[in-house]
Amino acid sequence: MNTAPIGIFDSGIGGLTVARAVFERLPHESTIYFGDTARVPYGPKSPETVRRYSLEILHWLLGRDVKAVVIACNTSTAHALMALREASPVPVIGVIGPGARAAATATRSGRIGVIGTAGTIASGAYGRAIRALRADAIVEERACPLFVPLVEEGWFDHPAAELIACDYLEPLRAGGVDTLVLGCTHYPLLKPLLQRVMGPEVRLIDSAEETSRTLADALGERALEAPADAVPTHHFAVSDDEARFRAVGSRFIGERLSAAEVVPLG
Ligand code: DGL
Repeated sequence: MNTAPIGIFDSGIGGLTVARAVFERLPHESTIYFGDTARVPYGPKSPETVRRYSLEILHWLLGRDVKAVVIACNTSTAHALMALREASPVPVIGVIGPGARAAATATRSGRIGVIGTAGTIASGAYGRAIRALRADAIVEERACPLFVPLVEEGWFDHPAAELIACDYLEPLRAGGVDTLVLGCTHYPLLKPLLQRVMGPEVRLIDSAEETSRTLADALGERALEAPADAVPTHHFAVSDDEARFRAVGSRFIGERLSAAEVVPLG
């Protein structure tokens, strides 16, 4: 039993979709969330830069005595998971392995689509992780960079979002994928729109839910869980623009966010 908090970090606000899944699955666990709002977006940045930022955040979280770290950001997982695991004395969980596992289990035809930021898609990390689980899988990957600003504007169901989604997803539809991995923190908020564009028979995979399950298993295996009577605390920190984090973040987490600490890194 261990009441230390779980560290969760993202390039900004989007990782709150993962935090929400962790709160729901592990209601006795305390958390510290760090959103790198000063340096978001990570999607178009080089792997080296994303790794450097991610290591800085890891060290900040370790300084807060976290017992595990969840990389909620797909781009950061794609570029920095290995580096963080090497540098960390506590377990580090990324979102790509869990999402890939869920997709490999869900698909019937073996044709899987993956959407994410430019960096995540260029890394090929989802394709590798899926094919390691299912060698015959045909993985179609597509970068959808405009989805992040659309979601941050709250345009979840705006006609412009639908037009852009139709364009981005056309090759995946034409490729006949039966499963689509939402490989970016922001995309779960577009679920109804994406389901409509892809058609009702396509399974949408939300990495956030799968990641919280993997985290629960990792804590269980290492006897790191908080006791069932623990009263959790949730602390939020950002590197800039605390007011916007609270305003937009409330949409991601489905409830009002308490004040966040401002921690300028770098
Ligand atoms: N959090 C990022 C991800 O999941 C999306 C936003 C960004 O580009 O930083 O890939």
